[in-house]
Amino acid sequence: MRRKLVVANRKMNGNLSGNKVFLEALLAGTCDYSNADYVVCVPHPYLFQAESILKGSPIAWGGQNMSRYESGAYTGSVSPSMLVEFGCEYVIIGHSERRQRGHDTDLSTGERFEAATKAGLKPIFCMGETLAEYEEGITDIVTIRQLNAVIHEIGVQGLAKGVLAYEPVWAIGTGKAASPEHAQNVLSFLRGHIEVLDAELAQNIRILYGGSVKADNAEKLFSMPDIDGGLVGGASLNTEEFVSICQAAGRI
Ligand code: 13P
Repeated sequence: MRRKLVVANRKMNGNLSGNKVFLEALLAGTCDYSNADYVVCVPHPYLFQAESILKGSPIAWGGQNMSRYESGAYTGSVSPSMLVEFGCEYVIIGHSERRQRGHDTDLSTGERFEAATKAGLKPIFCMGETLAEYEEGITDIVTIRQLNAVIHEIGVQGLAKGVLAYEPVWAIGTGKAASPEHAQNVLSFLRGHIEVLDAELAQNIRILYGGSVKADNAEKLFSMPDIDGGLVGGASLNTEEFVSICQAAGRI
């Protein structure tokens, strides 16, 4: 049985005082830890703060991106071991906001997935189609291409060290979440693709849905058989709403 997982992707938001309120409220929130896990991904400067508040608690924290390199002349980048040094357990890889601005490619996401696992981090690997691709009916082709780039780099077994997330670009930040049925279909398709390669892994790997997850749709989404939780952007900026989403995951 896969445990549910809720990840806050706080993107480029927050400040020291607001983060403190959010993280402390999350700790105090009555989330069920018996069958669900919770992660907060903050901008890199705030990893130190996340560590100091969450250390020793059941809530994990992570980065939103990283370099595939360990050190060197890569201005503005952060290495896997730097994230580890600040207690990160997770790192988001291949978010569409980075793919769209040309920072991330299929190749670089595969390489960074591997670099993250080598450093002992759990990558949260994002896939998803644009609105045009959705309308063209090629969601499956796009997500499989993105997933195969990672499988090509690390082999299907390598996926076991991470988490997958389907985030349709048209649902991110729009308030228009995919219907639970659409998300379920895509996740079932992705799980089926993995199953052909490794049936046991397909049963165990967690696949999240992301894109306008809110307190009022979380329970329905998380109740679908292949949706193992959510990657939450905007709603993670509202403490009460995010706690309700975590509680929804814990109830299922
Ligand atoms: P929203 O929840 O704001 O749609 O963002 C989703 C997302 O991009 C999480 O990574």
